[in-house]
Amino acid sequence: MKHAELTIDPAFSIGDIDRRLFGSFVEHMGRCVYTGVFEPGHPDAEPGGLRRDVVDLVRELGVTVVRYPGGNFVSGYCWEDGVGPVEQRPSRLDLAWRSIEPNTFGLGEFMEWTQLAGVEPMLAVNLGTRGVQEAVDLLEYANYPKGTKLSDLRREHGNAEPFDVRLWCLGNEMDGPWQIGHKNAQEYGRLAAETAKAMRLVDPRIELVACGSSNRQMPTFGSWEATVLDETYDYVDYISLHAYYEQHDNDLASFLATSVDMDGFIKDVIATCDHVRAKRRSRKTMRLSFDEWNIWYESRFEGAHNQSWDDAPRLIEDDYTVSDAVAFGGYLVTLLNHADRVAIACQAQLVNVIAPIRTEPGGPAWRQSIFHPFAQAARLARGKALQVSLRSPEHGTAAYGAVDSITAAASYDESTGSLSLFIVNRSTTDPIEVDIDLRGLPGLQVTEHQLIHDNDPTARNRAEAPDRVVSHAQEGVAVDGDHLKFTAPAISWTALALRPEAHQ
Ligand code: AHR
Repeated sequence: MKHAELTIDPAFSIGDIDRRLFGSFVEHMGRCVYTGVFEPGHPDAEPGGLRRDVVDLVRELGVTVVRYPGGNFVSGYCWEDGVGPVEQRPSRLDLAWRSIEPNTFGLGEFMEWTQLAGVEPMLAVNLGTRGVQEAVDLLEYANYPKGTKLSDLRREHGNAEPFDVRLWCLGNEMDGPWQIGHKNAQEYGRLAAETAKAMRLVDPRIELVACGSSNRQMPTFGSWEATVLDETYDYVDYISLHAYYEQHDNDLASFLATSVDMDGFIKDVIATCDHVRAKRRSRKTMRLSFDEWNIWYESRFEGAHNQSWDDAPRLIEDDYTVSDAVAFGGYLVTLLNHADRVAIACQAQLVNVIAPIRTEPGGPAWRQSIFHPFAQAARLARGKALQVSLRSPEHGTAAYGAVDSITAAASYDESTGSLSLFIVNRSTTDPIEVDIDLRGLPGLQVTEHQLIHDNDPTARNRAEAPDRVVSHAQEGVAVDGDHLKFTAPAISWTALALRPEAHQ
């Protein structure tokens, strides 16, 4: 059997893991909001229409922060349409997804949902069709305590206390020609800087995210970030990254290795941020918000232009397989291995639309395959990300050449002495014996060993078989001396939790 060696030592840390690395995203798109998180009349809905069965799954998933309301949707959105008495709210055309937006769910409902779900809100302002004034107005409505037109309007709408939203995105994917109100880098950079300055005058405690590129393949990638950061470096805290991957041409080996691309993307953006820092002789280190990432079978999507103007259409409700869960695990490993610079990450999206949670209107909610690696990483990756010294067998891929068959991340919680390991075998053919050298962490015992693997890598969950793909708890793997050994089957995700004996 092939053999990989990992060495882990708490002396070699990457950085603290920001809990906001386990974020997600709720957009007014398809059935993410309507019949996803919100469905008045559903048997499991709260009196206000929030689906309790979905909230329970969101809590189990372990999501920490949720970005809202878009996405492409936000670039044509008037937030004022979604507040106040529901019966007075207008229906509008949603140009991004050619849908009818009823506005029965808006900021107040979202904030109530964040409370129920126990997540931090991350709001995006519209810098497509709107600008500085509307962003400042929304912030006044959301965060100013009372005694002004918009803070008092929030109070009239039943929210006496400010929402106190700290994280704000300055628009969405403004580099994309598909974006309503698309801008070039100079135009966007100026608008983002002026919006950031004005928003900080309203509330200096907020943190701001400038739009980076929509993906690494954009023709403007690199120069977009450099120009935008030239304009915004002193006014923003994060630059965003977005990436969606899918399997092309039945090439599973390349697909399972797409985390190689994600890793390169992050490194490229860090290099660009640091180039701008050097030019400005700045002491500030820009951090990254990877605020849309996932697998999206985009090649199967005909595009919004073909939609008829429907309410809550079934858009991009991709079913995820075991292989998808393994590729997805590779992205979690990659994000953890960049914990020093990636502070925020939002898996996109949370419900129905390319999502770990699926629902049927009036019917059940269930977990997709990708739910499981996310939930395990969100629960177990605590404290610091540790460097993993790795010697892995390689295999060839058409897209990325020779890649390590094993990719791994580790976290260490000093307060409890707990170690967690996340290991992906992205070989399509070879089981690999993984030998972990734990000399730097004596006295640990395995408390949990989870495996996602299946003889049928195309297996998936459906409403009628919601637990066809689950994580399997393993028994029998133990630390022997300074080493922990186990076999990672081909196409598999493993999560291991270890604790000092005294903490068992
Ligand atoms: O998540 C779906 C869409 O993907 C978002 O609206 C947009 O930001 C991205 O292109």
